Amino acid sequence: MRTQVGIVGAGPAGLLLSHLLHLHGIASVVIEARSRDYIEHRVRAGVLEQGTVDTLREAGLGTRLDAQGLRHEGIELRFDGEGHRVPMTELTGRAITVYGQQEIIKDLVARRLDEGGDIRFEVSDVRVDGVSGAAPTITFGHDGRRETLECDFVAGCDGSHGISRDSAPAGALEVFEREYPFAWLGILAEAAPAVDELIYCLHASGFALYSMRSPTISRLYLQVSLDEDIEKWPDERIWDELAMRFALAGSDWSPTSGPIIDKGVTPMRSFVTEPMQAGRLFLAGDAAHIVPPTGAKGLNLAVNDVRLLARAFDAWYARGDDALLASYTHDALRRVWRVQHFSWWMTQMLHRFPGDDEYGHRVQVAQLRNVVESPSYATALSENYVG
Ligand code: APR
Ligand code: PHB
Repeated sequence: MRTQVGIVGAGPAGLLLSHLLHLHGIASVVIEARSRDYIEHRVRAGVLEQGTVDTLREAGLGTRLDAQGLRHEGIELRFDGEGHRVPMTELTGRAITVYGQQEIIKDLVARRLDEGGDIRFEVSDVRVDGVSGAAPTITFGHDGRRETLECDFVAGCDGSHGISRDSAPAGALEVFEREYPFAWLGILAEAAPAVDELIYCLHASGFALYSMRSPTISRLYLQVSLDEDIEKWPDERIWDELAMRFALAGSDWSPTSGPIIDKGVTPMRSFVTEPMQAGRLFLAGDAAHIVPPTGAKGLNLAVNDVRLLARAFDAWYARGDDALLASYTHDALRRVWRVQHFSWWMTQMLHRFPGDDEYGHRVQVAQLRNVVESPSYATALSENYVG
């Protein structure tokens, strides 16, 4: 088998890259370890920056997004039992859209398959070889056979636990990382959200986030310890803890509860791989970098990477111009490090760190008060949040 760009991983990065390349007349094959059903139902991120929405619309992927996406013009910061709205659109002219990552996946898979795209699901034992030469290969098991895909280039879009990063020659890539000493317990519930906008909440017991997927589905998170045993969190305990952290002084307001249809614990960490390229291997999305979810940036960063990469491949195939491929790392990393800082800033402001005392908590509250009372701070937060 032969193709122009071999893509490892059918997450948002790999699938969108394949679609954008198709729009430029460039052939690709996507190989994915999981089944189509699995990737279309895996619950992940849900906040799209304005630029991400624009990219999806321009690529002809706006129909369901425009019909079902929820436009939000602000977020709430809640601390000391009080809510404070940050009017992002008033401050920046831009907004975010809430639309589940798995909905984007469904849109992309349907579109690629409709247009004759080649996606191989449930592949095994994937290897990427020869990235230092002009003819890299991807080998994998599929339908009981071993296949070899010869490519001009390989795009490593296989997420933070993928194999493509390790296919670079030894010493070619450097990784910068930070682990946070806590995790998020996330739930999806059949409950109408009790709010119109997201709430980021600091409580002495830890962070909580109120988000949503639709007018009938809520998505909520609680900061928990790194080694948290999910078995110790029956539904009732989760709702009690959420009600306690989100409590408003002088009010009996609390999140609307309902049947929990998905529950999981996610550790919080950051890493950045530099460069994002080794020879003919280009890394994009979570394969190249991850951020803690507090800034809602992972998906948006993945979309930004592949937008740059598609443009660079187009310049190479259309005009033999390799300048954009050569500057891919430089171009992508500017945004990657901006977002690393923003995600770290939101995380340190809103979480309880082990060993934190009352002094630490009061400093965080003072910082949050500054953000909601100072138009400059509120604008800086909003600019980063909407992208
Ligand atoms: N071979 C083939 N596919 C693989 C392999 C492998 N060895 N390893 C992982 N994969 C697949 C995963 O099953 C997944 O479908 O690669 C895909 C990677 O997708 P994501 O993890 O969603 O990463 P990405 O496309 O970069 O999107 C980043 O996803 O992690 C979320 O919230 C994060 O929004 C961010 C976004
Ligand atoms: C989500 O809806 O899943 C979500 C929203 C905002 C975040 C993280 C996750 O910061």
